[in-house]
Amino acid sequence: MSRQKKIVAISGSIRTGSSNTNILKALATFIPEDIEYTIYNGIKELPHFNPDVDQMNPPAVVKDFRKLLKESHALIICTPEYAKSVPAVLKNSLEWLVSSAELYKKPVAVITASPSITGGDKAHESLLLTLGMLDATIVKSGSLLVPTVRTKCNDDATITDESTKQALIALINSIVDEIHH
Ligand SMILES: Cc1cc2nc3c(=O)[nH]c(=O)nc-3n(C[C@H](O)[C@H](O)[C@H](O)COP(=O)(O)O)c2cc1C
Repeated sequence: MSRQKKIVAISGSIRTGSSNTNILKALATFIPEDIEYTIYNGIKELPHFNPDVDQMNPPAVVKDFRKLLKESHALIICTPEYAKSVPAVLKNSLEWLVSSAELYKKPVAVITASPSITGGDKAHESLLLTLGMLDATIVKSGSLLVPTVRTKCNDDATITDESTKQALIALINSIVDEIHH
C-alpha cells in the first residue's frame, strides 16, 4: 500500500443530479489536499451478489471494487432511503464485501440525505446494522442524517446550510484524525 492516505466515497444514488452524490462532491472541499479522495461510481456495474462466484471466481468489476477498498484507509457512504431501507444497488455492493472483509475495522462515516423530514432514518439504521455486521468502525461524528436535503445542498454541490456544513466538517475531521493516528 502506498503511504498516501486514501478516502473512498460511495453514493447510494446512481441518479444523475443526485443530492447524495452532490454532498460527496462538496466534501472534497473539506478534505486536506494530501489525502486522495475518490468518489467510486461503479456500484451500478456490480452484478447481483451471488455466493457461487463470491470467493472462487468473482467478476473483474468485483475484484477491482474490493481492491479499491482494500487500498483505502477510510470510507464515506452518502445515501438516500428507498422504500424505508437502503437502496438495493448500495446493499448489493456491501454484500460483495462480506466474505472478503475489506471493511473490517475500517473507519467509516455514514450520511443519509433525503428531501423528507425524517432524513431517511430507516435506511440509516439499516446501513449501520450492515456495517456492524461487517465490523467496520463508525467514526466519532460519523453518523449523520440530512433531512430536507434540497434546502441544504445546491445542484452545483455547494452546502448552503451552515449547521449541515459544520456537521460535515466535523465528520471529515473525525475521519482524518482516525486515519492519521
Ligand atoms: C423508489 C423510491 C422510493 C423512495 N423511498 C423513500 C423513503 O422511503 N424515504 C425517503 O425519505 N425518501 C424516499 N424517496 C425519495 C428519495 O429520498 C429522493 O428521491 C432523494 O432525492 C433521492 O436521493 P438522490 O437525490 O441522491 O437521488 C424515494 C424515492 C424513490 C424514487
